[in-house]
Amino acid sequence: MAKRIEHDILIIGSGAAGLSAAIHLAPNAKVGVLSKGPLTAASTYYAQGGVAAVLNEHDSIDSHIQDTLVAGGGLCREPAVRFTVENGPEAIQWLIEQGVRFDQETDSTGHTEYHLTKEGGHSHRRVIHAADATGLAISKTLIKGAKSLENISLYESHVAIDLVTTRKLGLEGNHVLGAYVLNLADGTVETHCAKFVILATGGASKSYLYTSNPDVATGDGIAMAWRAGCRVANMEFNQFHPTCLYHPDARSFLITEAVRGEGGYLRLPNGQRFMDKFDERGELAPRDIVARAIDHEMKRLGVDCLYLDISHKPEDFIQDHFPTVYEKCLTLGIDITKEPIPIVPAAHYTCGGVLTNLQGKTDVDGLYAIGETASTGLHGANRMASNSLLECLVFAISASNDIRTKLSHRVCDLELPDWDETQVTDSDEDVVISHNWDELRRFMWDYVGIVRTDKRLLRAKHRVKMLRKEILEFYSNYKVSNDLIELRNLALVSELIIRSALKRKESRGLHFTLDYPEQLEKASDTVLDPQQPFKD
Ligand code: FAD
Ligand code: SIN
Repeated sequence: MAKRIEHDILIIGSGAAGLSAAIHLAPNAKVGVLSKGPLTAASTYYAQGGVAAVLNEHDSIDSHIQDTLVAGGGLCREPAVRFTVENGPEAIQWLIEQGVRFDQETDSTGHTEYHLTKEGGHSHRRVIHAADATGLAISKTLIKGAKSLENISLYESHVAIDLVTTRKLGLEGNHVLGAYVLNLADGTVETHCAKFVILATGGASKSYLYTSNPDVATGDGIAMAWRAGCRVANMEFNQFHPTCLYHPDARSFLITEAVRGEGGYLRLPNGQRFMDKFDERGELAPRDIVARAIDHEMKRLGVDCLYLDISHKPEDFIQDHFPTVYEKCLTLGIDITKEPIPIVPAAHYTCGGVLTNLQGKTDVDGLYAIGETASTGLHGANRMASNSLLECLVFAISASNDIRTKLSHRVCDLELPDWDETQVTDSDEDVVISHNWDELRRFMWDYVGIVRTDKRLLRAKHRVKMLRKEILEFYSNYKVSNDLIELRNLALVSELIIRSALKRKESRGLHFTLDYPEQLEKASDTVLDPQQPFKD
């Protein structure tokens, strides 16, 4: 018989969102946290720039709200923006109390305060950070905190395959009951039962060939939620970070936007700056504009990369503020204190996701989605830099508070069936999986990238439908593996991205199409509903 584990709350994901929620809930409940690999294998761990929040008297809540709305291209849901920004300072204070040591500076009078950096779209310095390795500092602190709490059980190398719901079992309503989970250590599928489930699985940028994200970012939570009956929103808004390192030996390495915030320039191969041609905010325009400008210049000149240059700043300033970027580039033979850094845009962030309210509640009873997996309405058509970690923290608190009020009313007394492996065998041709992985990510990059057309999107839709058919056949006949689970999810999420992009007959924020270059007067969300199956 398969292993069965019972939790009050099952949290899928060990990034900022998942671990923060676990720590908040632990005083009141037994919490299980799943992570596909080690606890650190999450986008959170790699975050560089920092966390945006209003943290001094020169800044204001209204200003942070206004900047977020502008960056979001008119599509943010204002109550979600206000909620996040207003709760930001408290969330940062909580992190500090957990032990995160953000950078501080002391002025000539001896007064010490947190150093705040600047990034694109922000009209004030409001990004609190730990040098250029903020995610590392946050992850380490949260992991240490979670490990110290008796009520939290951490399950590394455990991959959630699918949610169990009453509807899937043919029972009344649609309540979440737990999840089937592949234990990578022994290859068995366990049944994790829970009163509540929180999806904190991060984004889906691995749908693209080039990405700043770690391997875990395969949209699993979005795919599981869709299959369980949740609507998803605004999946067409894939954010491409303008400046990822371009080097044959560097995979997925980001050059933080704070480099531009602290005075870095973008340059063409001939050394010329160009951003002022595209936006009066220059290098600090919101990300959609900067990434598109770089893409335009690369295509115009037929070059493989452009350059980011901070070498005009003092050497010790660069080494102090950007030790990670400095070290990494130096190992590749690039001394950023003396020469420009070759860069290209790469897929970075999934602005859309599982539709939730301000408590992180989804369409399925008892199921929550927080962090990059969710679409709360904060980011609209383009996320402003460093608002993501903020959203993870704020919604971890609000979801936990909501669950806490319901804990005692919920019983979990259903006997869930074991995962059924009677109809499947071991795969003898895994090459199908690796081939489909490559094909999917390449056509998403080529046809569903920074600049889109209907023709390319239709071509991608045709391809993804064929791939999904083939993957389903494989999934129905062979035992699950991590690669197969991820591929199945990536293909579904890619179809949701393509279909959402085809629905939007305008260019807005990160969705830019040559067929509809103008922005419509009225902004509306693209919402897809699994209860309304695709007809074409
Ligand atoms: P993640 O941190 O991605 O964690 C996802 C977790 O879910 C992982 O533990 C993973 O193992 C687990 N998981 C996924 N699927 C499954 C499954 N099927 N079963 C079990 N577990 C699963 N944002 C900012 O605000 N500021 C920054 O400075 C910043 N810098 C960034 C730099 C880089 C290089 C990257 C990639 C992103 C950056 N971002 C930044 C974005 C931000 O880091 C992420 O959006 C945020 O960390 C997401 O946190 P999360 O908790 O939602 O998900
Ligand atoms: C960066 O440091 O440039 C990433 C910030 C973010 O994604 O918000």
